[in-house]
Amino acid sequence: MVHCMEGSSFRVLAIGDVVARPGRLALTTLLPSLREELSIDFCIVNGENSAGGSGLDKKCYREITEAGADVITLGDHTWRRPEVRTILAEDSYACICPGNYPRNFSVTEDIDQKTMLGGERGWGIYPCQGLSIGVVNLLGRTFLNTALDCPFAYAEMIFSRYLSTCDLIIVDFHGEATSEKIAFGRRFGDRISFLFGTHTHVPTADECILPEGAAYITDLGMTGSHAGVIGMDADTAIARFLNGRPSSYKAASGDERVRGAVVEFERSSGKPISIARVERCLPS
Ligand SMILES: [Fe+2]
Ligand SMILES: [Fe+2]
Repeated sequence: MVHCMEGSSFRVLAIGDVVARPGRLALTTLLPSLREELSIDFCIVNGENSAGGSGLDKKCYREITEAGADVITLGDHTWRRPEVRTILAEDSYACICPGNYPRNFSVTEDIDQKTMLGGERGWGIYPCQGLSIGVVNLLGRTFLNTALDCPFAYAEMIFSRYLSTCDLIIVDFHGEATSEKIAFGRRFGDRISFLFGTHTHVPTADECILPEGAAYITDLGMTGSHAGVIGMDADTAIARFLNGRPSSYKAASGDERVRGAVVEFERSSGKPISIARVERCLPS
């Protein structure tokens, strides 16, 4: 769902992991007015925790896009809900998932994107106000117990092969390790426009324009209840640490907030001018 308003600059809002119903409530209540207030031209929302705290389904997809997201990105909880396969496979959905899940063939093979991704999109190109915006989703390998291809090698391939003509390239690097995200930003900061990190649910205070040129923040934080432990009920989360035994998580409630960051770009050059963290609280 593209909501475009032309102006001298181009403003992108990225929103951190939407967690369960409280996160969707905060997002659907606050995002429409936030887009107006900040004159947002393009909005990306990480939805990997939107369905019950883990995964994305069609209902959550609709809620998030109708609230004002132009693209939804995912993360290590991508495959939790079977419906996500349809969402990722059909062109009518503006949703991408980490592109560096293993594919069992050489990334140098000359085949089209959809064949290469097996119906899963690791990136997309979205037109807005005459600009071509490439959005990429990657998953870090450090401290995440998941089989993954190298995100650096994957990015190298798609940046040069598919995204070289984009006016802006925006990356959601979903990862646990701050160092991996910073290293990625420094490695590719001269080729991308904006890198934001997601996954930890805790915002970092390092928003900046990197020496290489890209706007950067290690983690946006999360959208949901801040009354628990990274969006989950505190007692349940504490019990897991104390007992070391599996127990079902449930979402926390109360103190719901939207967290993210806004980047202003010079429209003519596509260069980022500023980046600022964003936080809005749901009125109690
Ligand atoms: Fe995650
Ligand atoms: Fe998350």
